[in-house]
Amino acid sequence: MTPSTYPLIEHYYDVVIVGAGGAGLRAALGMAEKNLKTACISKVFPTRSHTVAAQGGISASLGNMGEDDWRWHMYDTVKGGDWLGDQDAIEYMCRAAPAAIIELEHYGVPFSRTEDGRIYQRAFGGMTTHYGKGRAQRTCAAADRTGHAILHTLYQQALKHSAEFFIEYFVLDLIMDADGTCRGVLALDMANGQLHLFRAHRTVLATGGYGRTFLSCTSAHTCTGDGNGMILRAGLPLQDMEFIQFHPTGIYGSGCLITEGVRGEGGYLTNSEGERFMANYAPNAKDLASRDVVSRAITVEINEGRGVGEKKDHIHLHLEHLDSEIIDERLPGIAESAKIFAGVDVNCEPIPVLPTVHYNMGGIPTNYHAEVVTRKGDNPESIVPGLMAIGEAACVSVHGANRLGSNSLLDIIVFGRAAALRCAEQITPQTAHPKLAEDACDVALERFDKLRYAKGDTPTSKIRDDLQRTMQQHAAVFRSGDNLRAGIKGIQEVYESFTNVQVVDRSLIWNSDLIETLELDNLRGQAATVINAAENRTESRGAHAREDYPERDDKNWMKHSLIWLDNETGQTHIDYRPVHNYTLSDDIEVIPPKARVY
Ligand code: FUM
Repeated sequence: MTPSTYPLIEHYYDVVIVGAGGAGLRAALGMAEKNLKTACISKVFPTRSHTVAAQGGISASLGNMGEDDWRWHMYDTVKGGDWLGDQDAIEYMCRAAPAAIIELEHYGVPFSRTEDGRIYQRAFGGMTTHYGKGRAQRTCAAADRTGHAILHTLYQQALKHSAEFFIEYFVLDLIMDADGTCRGVLALDMANGQLHLFRAHRTVLATGGYGRTFLSCTSAHTCTGDGNGMILRAGLPLQDMEFIQFHPTGIYGSGCLITEGVRGEGGYLTNSEGERFMANYAPNAKDLASRDVVSRAITVEINEGRGVGEKKDHIHLHLEHLDSEIIDERLPGIAESAKIFAGVDVNCEPIPVLPTVHYNMGGIPTNYHAEVVTRKGDNPESIVPGLMAIGEAACVSVHGANRLGSNSLLDIIVFGRAAALRCAEQITPQTAHPKLAEDACDVALERFDKLRYAKGDTPTSKIRDDLQRTMQQHAAVFRSGDNLRAGIKGIQEVYESFTNVQVVDRSLIWNSDLIETLELDNLRGQAATVINAAENRTESRGAHAREDYPERDDKNWMKHSLIWLDNETGQTHIDYRPVHNYTLSDDIEVIPPKARVY
């Protein structure tokens, strides 16, 4: 059977959203609400998407627990991102935040409450008042299960507005026209192996991050950056891939997340000498400095022999001093996780923790309308027609070189909504779709065919393990040229070993090997782009800490990296895009760069 004659079930929608996490669902409900015929395709049941694991909360300057102002939030976000964030997009997000939270409340999110019935807000790292002078309580919380509460509410709202769901469908590739317009996606129904062609006026990638390029991460096993893989295969670039966030407090051994909300409620870190060491690294913010600062501090403590435990290879997080009522009411989930994954009763003992990969600042380059952009000749921001990206898959870039905790839930809500607004402006519901070329799906089908029957001699699990271990070793909290170059070599070998992958055919029993192989194909492209972009950026900025280039270098490096992949060979090509050092409105000025101390 030739690819062009492969039997495909065709569907026609105004908008197709790939991914049903918080960003995808917020976009889906917004599109459907505007009468756009909307499909949302997800490889997992929507309420199992990784947003469900977000614990601590969502930032917005509501000012329920003290003074606040969206301009202070913007300042913190620009500073938190070490001046790599696009200030127009940051302004858009921080200004929109309070209304976005009220909207979520009206949709039904069960936020925790203050005594007088307002939405409860806790302190989070890097969140301040008066441009760094005071400490803000800006993170709106539903106990320590905020993502869970938001995800369930958005799914209910999307169903209410009649968005259509295709659940346990794995999207294989974008379908691009010869002129570079995205016309939809090709997807596999995982239950029966049937292939589906989804045509759309806009395709929105909301596929989440690529945390699983690393061995130890807080990300779900499903966080394989599938949309980013599709982008690379479509010959488009990814942006700022070198910036990987390590969350300071993953549970030692399992990597399971312990929310920053613990430190927001008064928890603190100690080393083997019982010292609250954060005061030595961030004299003002201490345990509530930004994540990159705290993760580096923990790593230095361990490297200098002050780690705890038999191997002195982790640190303690204390909340035994907190009132048990506070733990029951505001941190019940982490008390449970600590018990299950560390065997610790948080009321009596500290939790053993270690920095763990948590978030990807890099991703698919977009503008603040969620439209995907690429460099075309002299234009670094040429819009890719028909294609959008939101959430962790995207790099809009509001997080710059380091994201502040609780800004990611905000990002997914604000830019999920922005995508819906843009589509409603530009698409007339149910207009006809242009005819596709006969061979439009051939490349995608050929790739699928090749992997479906891959009969090499290396199991998918072995290649994935090699990939994750190489990334963990060579692209960690601290990096150096030599170590990164060794990592590039290692990842290149892993990349090439994939040509020898073996998909086990166990067709009579449940078999996830094919899907894991497709995911691994996506992961290997992202590993290659992360490690090459990290070697290329010869400065330290935000989460990218180079021991051989310890200073931030604004003269040469205040720019976004754009990185393309030759999917055949695994070789990369890097170019740049300027940082948006401008704002959208006259009532706010650009925040000029300065030293970043906490
Ligand atoms: O620590 C946390 O609760 C994580 C929040 C976030 O990544 O925004």
